[in-house]
Amino acid sequence: MTRAEAEALDRDDPLAPFRERFVIEGPVIYADGNSLGRLPQATIERLGSVVDTWGSRLVTAWPDWIDRPLEVGDLLADAVLGANAGEVLVCDSTTVNLFKLAAAALVHRPGALVTDADNFPTDRYVLEGLGELAVFDADPIDGPTADDVARACARRDVSVVCLSHVAYRSGALADVRAIVDVAHAAGALVLLDVSHSAGVAPVELEAEGVDLAVGCTYKYLNAGPGSPAFLYVREELQEELRSPIWGWFGQREQFAMGPAYDPVPGIGRFLAGTPPILGLAAVEVGAELVREAGIERLRRKSVALTELAISLHDERLAQLGFELGTPRDAERRSGHVSIRHADGWRICRALIERADVVPDFRTPDSIRLGLPPLYTRFVDAWDIVDRLALLVESGEHELVDAAPARVT
Ligand SMILES: Cc1ncc(COP(=O)(O)O)c(C=O)c1O
Repeated sequence: MTRAEAEALDRDDPLAPFRERFVIEGPVIYADGNSLGRLPQATIERLGSVVDTWGSRLVTAWPDWIDRPLEVGDLLADAVLGANAGEVLVCDSTTVNLFKLAAAALVHRPGALVTDADNFPTDRYVLEGLGELAVFDADPIDGPTADDVARACARRDVSVVCLSHVAYRSGALADVRAIVDVAHAAGALVLLDVSHSAGVAPVELEAEGVDLAVGCTYKYLNAGPGSPAFLYVREELQEELRSPIWGWFGQREQFAMGPAYDPVPGIGRFLAGTPPILGLAAVEVGAELVREAGIERLRRKSVALTELAISLHDERLAQLGFELGTPRDAERRSGHVSIRHADGWRICRALIERADVVPDFRTPDSIRLGLPPLYTRFVDAWDIVDRLALLVESGEHELVDAAPARVT
């Protein structure tokens, strides 16, 4: 494919106008929206209006704010997660939500907690940390596959199978339906981390029978650094499960300030403390943008963008010592493409410092090229690979410092 052909794809792209809805400054090609999404223009205004309300109404605005975690949760449920109203809350971080749901499930259904060895670190750490409460008993399974889950369930009584929808390093999509079938047949619940699919790939929590889910909003939902995460609890389970964090926002008649914890019925019982109202406004804008673009159209463009990056990898990068780290089958990959190289860390630094391309790096050797369809052009994908090839062909990457960094 030539650059002119990539430009032609952009001219025919029905989602192209969405790029103007984001703040885009300077010549840099941003290829890390899979880590931190861009700032939507509407968020600036929406946050400004919440700040104005804070300034003018102070505490008298709380009656309008108090249900925001449920309201924004309903929007996410419909626009992004394939879930029903009353099944999603926006609150806390992904890490904290994972803890809440895994612990709730373990108390409800004692047994082992299964995850895979390469799941995202915070997920593995939280699950292992639960071991200190004497309920964790698991060897990691090799991969997030139905076969591995079946083997784990055959070995012992399993409480929860906790996996990521998308492998953070490779971008591979798990076969959720098959995993759910196997786990349910063994009487285990499924807790899915959809941080890397929410807003870029179809997430069908209800249709696929997922019991519990968590995810962040700062990647493809563009809600900003540290924006509140979400959690999902299938309706039938809501009465049976109880959050391990007995916070006052989950309490019946919260302002009666009663002596004993008595959680509300429904999803609200998974709230803990005071909700982050500014962050919620940013999540709302991010979810509205996805709803407007439509997840099917976003997925179609995302597949085309990753397909383009993969074919250009084969054409230009394979001969330079790169290896594709992402599944070639479009059905089995999400929104980023990982390319592996023995000198990957230095090449990643060189792209940022010398080629105006911002990807990220995951150990031991993966450069992740994030291609969020809301604002990435086909010509961006073409230019990223072109700059990458020119950099490595010329050996310019060898001139940058390969020292480790605090953030990669
Ligand atoms: C799959 C997955 N889970 C969790 C997190 C992070 O969780 P938190 O927002 O609590 O830091 C990330 C961050 O990239 C992630 O990719």
